[in-house]
Amino acid sequence: MATGKLSGTTGRSDRAGTTDRRIDALLTLLSENPTVVISGEKIARHIGVSRSAVWLWTHRLRALGVRVKGHPRTGYRIERVPDVLSPSLLRRRLRDSPFGKRIYHYFKTASTNSIALDLGHAGEPHGAIVLAEEQTGGRGRAGRSWHSEKTNGIYMSVLLRSQISPIVAPVITLVAGLAVRDAVQEETGVAGDLRWPNDVLADGKKFSGILTEMYAKPSQVRFVIVGIGINVNHTAMPAELTRVATSLRLITGKPVSRLQLLVRLLRRLDSYYNRFLAEGSRPILARFAEVSTYARGKRVRITTGGESYVGTSDGLEPNGLLRVRRDDGKTAVVISGDVSEAN
Ligand code: BTN
Repeated sequence: MATGKLSGTTGRSDRAGTTDRRIDALLTLLSENPTVVISGEKIARHIGVSRSAVWLWTHRLRALGVRVKGHPRTGYRIERVPDVLSPSLLRRRLRDSPFGKRIYHYFKTASTNSIALDLGHAGEPHGAIVLAEEQTGGRGRAGRSWHSEKTNGIYMSVLLRSQISPIVAPVITLVAGLAVRDAVQEETGVAGDLRWPNDVLADGKKFSGILTEMYAKPSQVRFVIVGIGINVNHTAMPAELTRVATSLRLITGKPVSRLQLLVRLLRRLDSYYNRFLAEGSRPILARFAEVSTYARGKRVRITTGGESYVGTSDGLEPNGLLRVRRDDGKTAVVISGDVSEAN
């Protein structure tokens, strides 16, 4: 089985059945007792299956790439604690967070943003998160794709339901970028640069991107999906990306715990988002200007629609859009488009 889903933080049946909850429970039990051989009987009780079915469930776990040693007579032990973003492990660490309540986890899916959009339309509440170990159709901005290699990255979409005006919605992208930047710095010591609006860079190469999609009525946002991709443990990037993209492992030379990084990220997201709701965009813009070399005084090339021009960044508008003093003397407010460093 290559495709699997771990869900069941909600009490009701997950989107396609309940079986994967047992995989999640089994994974958690084995991960939390890594040096111990656990009897088939104990596993059966813990995950709620018959003793004779335990072998089948451990087999399913192996098929998902988790190394489990043992068999029905001797009991089972995990060989190496996997860095799987298991909902039950996450939920325990996020007890006090709105993002720990409803977690949808996929081993393989096309795009977590697409699933989160469907969930949003189906009435899923604020704070639900969708995670994938691998995406086959990860989506980036401007119709680009997002390289989503198996178990090495964080591929997550967060559903936010807020009563904000669509005009200030771009600030949410900045909120997410700040959360990624802080979480990465806390976990790895890497102080990323933010390239407006949504890229997080180190040494000029991108290791994280954010795709914000919203569903809104003219005067009010119904929900926003914040899709976050982080290249965490990639040991190499595909040839066509090596010039522009990197991973945290390539930067630090060490593997990084995705689980710990994700917990930090969700905590930072909660705190920046609440600050935005309580105090408006001002503190977010101020923080962005502090940590982004792109916010002011940077020579930039803007490519938007069919147009491309060079200028110098000149701060952010109250709604989070980038002001640029163009070399031809005009002032532009960039709504969307690509920003790159210019000479
Ligand atoms: C970009 O830099 O262009 C944005 C990339 C966003 C990628 C993330 S990965 C999780 C979520 N699901 C997607 O399909 N895209 C976003």
